[in-house]
Amino acid sequence: MDGVTIVTHPLVQHKLTLMRDKARSTKGFRQLLNEIGMLLCYEVTRDLPLEQVEIETPLGAMTAPVIAGKKLVFAPILRAGVGFLDGMLSLVPAARVAHIGLYRDPETLTAVEYYFKAPSDLAERLVVVMDPMLATANSAVAAIDRLKEHGARDIRFVCLLAAPEGVRKLRAAHPDVHIWTASVDSHLNDHGYIVPGLGDAGDRMYGTK
Ligand code: PRP
Ligand code: URA
Repeated sequence: MDGVTIVTHPLVQHKLTLMRDKARSTKGFRQLLNEIGMLLCYEVTRDLPLEQVEIETPLGAMTAPVIAGKKLVFAPILRAGVGFLDGMLSLVPAARVAHIGLYRDPETLTAVEYYFKAPSDLAERLVVVMDPMLATANSAVAAIDRLKEHGARDIRFVCLLAAPEGVRKLRAAHPDVHIWTASVDSHLNDHGYIVPGLGDAGDRMYGTK
């Protein structure tokens, strides 16, 4: 699929299967989301550019690589996107964080914004938008629209599960935004849920069902 990377790492696939299981506890679900966040962070940052700097080791001087440019911005879509954040920050602790509060209207499936707070210099940073679920893609498209209005130009999207409909919609709306996901599932049901999916990620993570 053009513009989509399926993360097939065995640890990611194993943990995703544990999360899909409806018997998984809230605690277990949250912990697995955090762990997968870390593994997906490794994948989404795989090609970051490096620059050479001069350092002194205890044994002498050398030229060694560090990540070039300004610190990344992690942009979780509330609520469920927050489940990825700690895992991502544990690998990139100096990243900035943009919070995007959106919920999906259960009738229309459109995204309703209730909060937005981002660093002011988005134009100079790589922004990684994160949300476990890419279903209709209304939330992802709205979040990326908003980030672009605020200047973001270099954006990547990370999710755990996607529906083919959501992938097509996000790629059509924002062809410059590459998608990383652990799986593209079968389809959306009549209520906009990913099938077979894992249910409502936010409710399962916070125990709010
Ligand atoms: C879920 C999920 C995504 C969105 C995906 O959030 O976390 O943000 O739905 O669906 P879409 O691709 O059709 O927009 P929800 O609106 O249930 O809010 P929550 O994270 O607060 O539970
Ligand atoms: N949001 C979820 O949390 N799960 C879905 O399957 C679709 C949207």
